[in-house]
Amino acid sequence: MNDWTVICRVEDIPVLGSRRVARPQGMDVAVFRNGQDQVFALLDRCPHKGGPLSQGIVFGTSVACPLHNWTIELADGCAKAPDEGCAVRFACKVDAGQVLLDPVEIATLAIDLAPPKAGPGASTGSVGDATFDVQAPHTA
Ligand code: FES
Repeated sequence: MNDWTVICRVEDIPVLGSRRVARPQGMDVAVFRNGQDQVFALLDRCPHKGGPLSQGIVFGTSVACPLHNWTIELADGCAKAPDEGCAVRFACKVDAGQVLLDPVEIATLAIDLAPPKAGPGASTGSVGDATFDVQAPHTA
């Protein structure tokens, strides 16, 4: 396994919410925290039509996409049946209260996936620098 990059502390992520992590290239990564303080990381792009999963509602180990309410399992990024498809999943772990992501994945994983051309998922926020700044979620 590669070295890990500290993103934030667990308490920096709202319970049942998320934070977005900007990348040098590619769409943001959404880092979710559930009610049991488990943390998960997915590309901020729903497998249906690219909705911003970071703005969804977290429940259990899932997030409900804010656009059409698909349920996405946070552990693997896959939609629950009868819906099909998976969001890109990023390796994520918590160590001593710190949330860590794999810097190689941050730099390379799904950087070719484009955001939707319209709708709430069209905005990816500002592109961060190599320190992978954590951004507040969208408010709309
Ligand atoms: S874009 Fe997520 S459910 Fe349609």
